[in-house]
Amino acid sequence: METNFTLSIIKPNAVRTGKTGPILSMINEAGFEISAMKMIRLTRSQAERFYAVHAGKPFYESLVDFMSSGPIVVMVLRKENAVEQYRLLMGQTDPQKAAPGTIRHSFGVSVQMNAVHGSDSVENAYRETSFFFSETERYP
Ligand code: CMP
Repeated sequence: METNFTLSIIKPNAVRTGKTGPILSMINEAGFEISAMKMIRLTRSQAERFYAVHAGKPFYESLVDFMSSGPIVVMVLRKENAVEQYRLLMGQTDPQKAAPGTIRHSFGVSVQMNAVHGSDSVENAYRETSFFFSETERYP
């Protein structure tokens, strides 16, 4: 199944170090339309709910702490086949394995601080966009 939207997050470390603008430029240059966007800070319990699928994994507590450690930028990106296309633009989870030209290769510093999140399936694109955006925010 394909969809024309996906959810992206610029993670706290990337926001803190001034990478928001450069990451948005890469997203624009790759042909995505930013159809909704806001800067927020997650509470710990919101981060726990967002990453509930990883609960119990060794990196879960640390991931939740990190994702609630400062402001993040969340957005809905639109493009044909958006989930897969944005995963290609992000590159692999581990920035050291991400290909040159990808966001994580350019701005990731570790598996946890890998600059950006993107939905990993169409089902999660629906779940994640609804988690962050109301219907009126998503369709400006
Ligand atoms: P993200 O796309 O936000 O989805 C889950 C996150 O968990 C992932 O990016 C990584 O930042 C983080 N993470 C930390 N450790 C691991 C790991 N060993 N394997 C996968 N993801 C990890």
